[in-house]
Parts: sequence; structure tokens; C-alpha cells
Amino acid sequence: MVLDGHHPDTIARAADALAQGQLIGLPTETVYGLAADADNPNAVAQIFAAKGRPADHPLIVHVADAQGHPQGPSAAMAHYAQAVPVFAQQLIEAFWPGPLTLILPCRPGIAQAATGGQATIGLRCPAHPVAQALLQACLQRQPPIWGLAAPSANKFGRISPTTAAHVASEFGADLLVLDGGACAVGIESTIIDCTRGVPVLLRPGAITRDDIARVCGQRPLSKEELSAHTPRASGTLLAHYAPNAKVRLMGTEQLRSALQLLGREAPALAVYHRSPLTRPGPGIALRAMPHNALAAAQQLFSDLRDLDALGVPLIWVEAPPESADWEGVRDRLERAAAAG
Ligand code: TXA
Ligand code: MG
Repeated sequence: MVLDGHHPDTIARAADALAQGQLIGLPTETVYGLAADADNPNAVAQIFAAKGRPADHPLIVHVADAQGHPQGPSAAMAHYAQAVPVFAQQLIEAFWPGPLTLILPCRPGIAQAATGGQATIGLRCPAHPVAQALLQACLQRQPPIWGLAAPSANKFGRISPTTAAHVASEFGADLLVLDGGACAVGIESTIIDCTRGVPVLLRPGAITRDDIARVCGQRPLSKEELSAHTPRASGTLLAHYAPNAKVRLMGTEQLRSALQLLGREAPALAVYHRSPLTRPGPGIALRAMPHNALAAAQQLFSDLRDLDALGVPLIWVEAPPESADWEGVRDRLERAAAAG
């Protein structure tokens, strides 16, 4: 059932449900999460079962804001992480609460179900007021719930949800979903691995490489640059974010000439375009991608869902620009295309 997440009664009810080991749908500024008490192995196991997610894909743990301790990690941070490097601390001060996940050394024996038994843990302090209200309410319980393990609230490999209705449609009416409105960022958090001595970009997002470089004085390496064994990362699998339709990424000229070739006998298909186009035939649905990278990220998953809901077998997508601010959107579209 979907309830107004801004209402204090809803927050109390959600905290109770989490304390009882249940799952809830949680709004964040990036995408909606499917959340459970990160220290309750049975509850975390339910996330994997509900999503159909392989058990060796670790989950991000969400923690409350440091409230009055801007210079140091919060109590919740200290519960999960140890040996936080200086550059990670700089990133926390600059970007938390916000759409940035840090992979840090995990305190031994903590949240093993969420980390998949690894020695590292992904931590994120979300900026969404409903997420923060719930995390604070969780911390205040006796015993405290230190953090919430929450992957995106979609079935494994499918499009991530950016509204409460997306979550309800995927998991049914039994799940308590806190409605926090449409997500402002729209694509998942940037992930930086802080366990390699230097920052390593595992997943691009709204916080760009340039933002990271500005704050820690060093440009993050890509996974390719760091060829050492990185843990499996489902948000980083090549084929992911798959609509039912086959997605094809095309350059502007390639798209124009392909549409011209189709002519009026065109089969049903949807086109997600950036440059102005004229519709060649009646079977073709057009949807314009916003021109600004942040606006495009905000709309991306919702637009893909809408286009997919048309039931077309094909979605042609005009490739976004190559610049750094578009890296997150490009990455999601490339992986949606790889899934076909
Ligand atoms: O924006 C987000 O990050 C959203 C919202 C709900 O906060 N969450 C999200 O979670 O995208 P999920 O589970 O869909 O993506 C988690 C990503 C995966 O790629 C996972 O492998 C990586 O984080 N990850 C988590 N813990 C890790 C670890 N210890 N080492 C390496 N990667 C890790
Ligand atoms: Mg996901």
C-alpha cells in the first residue's frame, strides 16, 4: 500500500515494520529503494528473494545524516565502516547527504548478509527528507536500527523506479511504500570505491568525475584502469535496466537515415530522440529527451517505462553527448541496449 511518506505516522509505521524484519519501499533522491534493516540477515534475504537478485551482489546500506557532527562520521557510519581514508572523508563532507555511495572497509562481522560476506561495504547517506526522517527514526529505536540495506526497488535487471507507483506496480499492494514524490535525480548514485588507495569510479551518476576530482584533488580511476578483481556489481553489469522492448542506441545521422528508410510502412516502434524529428509513419511514437543532462537523468527511467508500456518491440534512442555530465545517462542507456 502506498502512504504519504511526509506524514509522521507513516514514518513510525515504517520503522515498526522494519524492526519486525519487513521490507518497505523507500523514496530517495536517486531512485526508490526496497529497504530492510541491514543488520537483520532474514530481512536482507527477503530483499534478494523479492528482487530475484543473485546473492553475490552486495547491497548499499543507507545511513542517517551526521547531525551535528559535520567533521566526523556519524554513529551509524562508525557502526559499519572502519579505516575511512582522508579522500573519502572529503567526499562525505562535500556530498553527503546526497547521491554518492562510498565503498569502504567494513567492520568485521557486520551486516554480512548485505555485503555478501565481503570485507567492504557500500554506504550512502541519502538527501531525500523522507529517507532521512525514516533513518533518524530508525536510529532512535531501542535497540537502534543502524542502517537500511536498499537496492533499487525493481526486479533484477529491470528499469529502476522513480515514483511510488512504479514500486507498487512491481511488488504489489502488500508492500508498504512511502510516497516521496518523483525522484529529483532519477538515476542511481555515483559509486566510488575507497578501498584501493585512490578513488575508483564503479558507477557514474549525477556527481561526476569532475566533481570528485575537484573535491579530493585526484581524478577517479575507472574500473578498466584498475584491472584488479572488483566485486560483482549488478548496477554495473553490462546488460541491465532492460525494458521489454529491444533498445538500440544510434547516432543522430544514423537515426535520421534509418527513419527515412522506414517510410510510411514503418513497423511499430518508439523513438527517444534529442534532435528535432518528423514522424515518418503513424506506427512510430516519438518522445523527446530533455536537453540538459540533469533533467534527462531525472526523466530517463520514467520515459523508458512509458515507451515500453506502448508495447512496441523496439525503442530507438538517439545517443546522448559524449561529455562528462552525460556519463550517467549514457551508461544506463548503453546497458539498456546491451540487454537486448
Ligand atoms: O541510488 C542508489 O544507489 C540506489 C538508491 C535506492 O539508494 N540504490 C541502488 O542499489 O542503486 P543497488 O543495489 O541497485 O546497487 C548497488 C550497487 C551494486 O552495483 C553493488 O554491486 C554495489 O552497489 N555495491 C554495494 N556494495 C558493494 C561493495 N561492498 N563492493 C562493491 N560494490 C558494492
Ligand atoms: Mg539497481
